[in-house]
Amino acid sequence: MAIPFLDLPAQHVALKQELMRVFSDALDSAGFIGGPVVKDFEEDFSAFVGAKYAVGVANGTDALRLALIAMGVKAGDRVVTVPNTFIATTEAISQAGAKIDFVDVDPDTCLMDPNRLEAYLKRKFSGTQADRPSAIIPVHLYGQCADMDAILSLARQYNLIVLEDAAQAHGATYKGKAAGTMGHAAAFSFYPGKNLGACGDAGVVTTNDPAIAEKLAMLRDHGQKTKYYHAVEGCNGRLDAIQAGFLRVKLPHLAMWNNLRRQIAEAYDSAFGDIDWIRLVKVHPYNVSSCHLYVIHSRHRDQLQEHLKNNGIATGMHYPLPLHLQKCYAHLGFKHGSFPEAERSGAELLSLPMFPELGIDRARQVIDSVLAFSA
Ligand SMILES: Cc1ncc(COP(=O)(O)O)c(C=O)c1O
Repeated sequence: MAIPFLDLPAQHVALKQELMRVFSDALDSAGFIGGPVVKDFEEDFSAFVGAKYAVGVANGTDALRLALIAMGVKAGDRVVTVPNTFIATTEAISQAGAKIDFVDVDPDTCLMDPNRLEAYLKRKFSGTQADRPSAIIPVHLYGQCADMDAILSLARQYNLIVLEDAAQAHGATYKGKAAGTMGHAAAFSFYPGKNLGACGDAGVVTTNDPAIAEKLAMLRDHGQKTKYYHAVEGCNGRLDAIQAGFLRVKLPHLAMWNNLRRQIAEAYDSAFGDIDWIRLVKVHPYNVSSCHLYVIHSRHRDQLQEHLKNNGIATGMHYPLPLHLQKCYAHLGFKHGSFPEAERSGAELLSLPMFPELGIDRARQVIDSVLAFSA
């Protein structure tokens, strides 16, 4: 039996009636934009995360971009992040008018390396005003939170804003604190394949800061609080009522789905832990990952992917080419060797099937297939 990388229809079987009710309620009320369903979802999600505010937006990319603007990032600023993230993180930086900077990642976790961040900040703050960043975006990649204590301590030392990219980390915790509660704000994506996925594009920003929440609520809605009176120039970045309704049906299942993902991750970890040609992504004991993606590294990555494909097992790569080497960022002036850890990871990584409905039996099939590979 072929094993898909992700199987969303399987997730919808048990929820179908409730999800269909969302559509019929929307048709009956014709309340497609904003309204009580969006408000209810924002309350549900802020309670789930444990943040004071959640502001629904059109997608995770808007969540990042509008959060940066709401936090005061402006044209000419610099924002530092990691090169091994999805391009939305850096699109948000440039589209907020700021310049993109990178620091390399810890090779064990693939997350922002606080030591490299410290060295970068030391260097930048010994230069001119224009060299200095105003914000940091740690990315909770694959569902594991970045080392927030170290990052927040540096942010305090240098008076920087911190925006968590929590697009892959719904329900993850770091030293008992939830992803989405640690920075000045956090951006979540509800792209359908995420741990909590909408039936299209959707996103949210969480924050404990009322001023950021208020600004965001205006920015996502053309900069208005009162219709047709625009305090600032915003955009059309609202969360649709159908998406919010869909997400409200799914949210109560998220913790259970994350647990099922963790069981699969544990099975993968114990099967691959001692294999000398596989390098696992280390998850720190103080972190509870949302297990959005299960990524292994191997020097034989391409042959392994081909072998799995021949055995009917779908895989992915998140992400094969680090952002500093992408054609669209050639103007930033980075080259091969600029961020060696992100580059090595990109060349060796492979994402195995990981979704709650995969189940242990099919995970074992994936394991057997990986172990049957010989380079
Ligand atoms: C790390 C990361 N940041 C940002 C995003 C952007 O989210 P969206 O696709 O909802 O715009 C994604 C998801 O695609 C992501 O994985």
